Amino acid sequence: MNHTSTRPRWVTRAVGVAGAAALGAGVVVVAAGPAAAAETVSDGTLSWGVKQSFRSYIAGPIAHGSVTAAGGATTAGDGTFQFPSGTGTVDGTTVDAAFAGSVHFTGHSGQLALTIAGLEVHIDGTSGVLVADVDSKSLSGGTIESYPDVELAALDLSGVSPVATADGYSWTGVPATMTEAGAPAFADFYSAGTALDPLSFTVVADDAAPVDPDPGTDPDPGTDPDPGTPAENEQQLTVVVAEGAVEPEPGTFSWEISGDDSVVSLGTATDEGDHLAAAGQLKPVVVTDTRSTRSAWSISAQVSDFTAGSATLPGKYLGWTPEVVTAGGGATAGEVVPSGRLTGSGLAETSTLGGAPTGHEPGTATLGADLDLELPTGTAAGTYAATLTLTALS
Ligand code: HEM
Repeated sequence: MNHTSTRPRWVTRAVGVAGAAALGAGVVVVAAGPAAAAETVSDGTLSWGVKQSFRSYIAGPIAHGSVTAAGGATTAGDGTFQFPSGTGTVDGTTVDAAFAGSVHFTGHSGQLALTIAGLEVHIDGTSGVLVADVDSKSLSGGTIESYPDVELAALDLSGVSPVATADGYSWTGVPATMTEAGAPAFADFYSAGTALDPLSFTVVADDAAPVDPDPGTDPDPGTDPDPGTPAENEQQLTVVVAEGAVEPEPGTFSWEISGDDSVVSLGTATDEGDHLAAAGQLKPVVVTDTRSTRSAWSISAQVSDFTAGSATLPGKYLGWTPEVVTAGGGATAGEVVPSGRLTGSGLAETSTLGGAPTGHEPGTATLGADLDLELPTGTAAGTYAATLTLTALS
């Protein structure tokens, strides 16, 4: 199967500037189009607490129960469960992933017995379902009722975008609500639509073609039957901020890109009529300058063209609005640079994120920027990557 990788490239750059402690860090901007081909999920973890109030009820004085995670599933310190060994497929807009392990709740001296196993996440665009094999003792008859492959929870992806990790993707805090079908397994204590715990999951996506589930019907299983057709006029955009070089020397100038993860999502581009638009935020850049010289400093950036295979989009389509997130050390934000979709050079031209003038107070500032990507309508779906190089002058 010929396809374009949806995997972002990781770039870290050191940029030397004469006579100055200059550091560079890479930012990769990836636009993953809906036509991106499926990748095989070889591993992954689903984190889900079912419902916090249910866990409290089970452990508390009413149910006097207990919870057991089994089959490879584990209980985290906060009481939520980790279901391991993800398998399945993932592409630009869909996920089909199954996870191993089970969790078993008991209570009321055995009158409550609920097992959730065989968890599967199925996502298509902005909606999805959490499927599970559920066994639960009924409140009335006391017999175990089985709910195989029940759509236990409805998932809302409208506000959550996947972020690229080093070897796959992750989704964090996906809102989940009880379904009609799932309610009986909880003795109908929750009606359909009741909020359950949000779920998070990561998948390791091998950059390889998935196994064709029905090779007999595929006239040529060796090629992508439709590699370039955009399913819809939308793209998922992800900005990967490579870990910045840190220079934590007291009494000098240092800067780093903050955040535990190194990924910023631009979400899904929306059709704005005459163009496609996506927005996101640069990971904040923390600058500390305690030099006694009080010399001026600035952080600037420049983006390369976006490429997807042989297709190219000009880097000028990316613009930004810099801001001082946390003031300090006399730092000020750089000028707004609009997307150069219609006019101007956008961030293809070196642009200032922020800086401080000579004589500034010593201190620490955090600089951020709202990123603004505008693409012409009709932009071919695909995986576009560009590098935004941040450079400090001090
Ligand atoms: C002897 C049988 C049972 C008794 C006496 C009982 C009693 C209760 C009581 C008093 C509450 C209210 C707790 C509160 O408001 O804080 C409750 C809640 C609940 N029970 Fe039971 N229950 C029984 C069996 C079951 C069974 C078989 C299930 C099936 C899974 C179940 C699922 C629930 C759920 C989901 C809640 C709501 C917990 C929450 O989120 O607050 N119960 N039960």
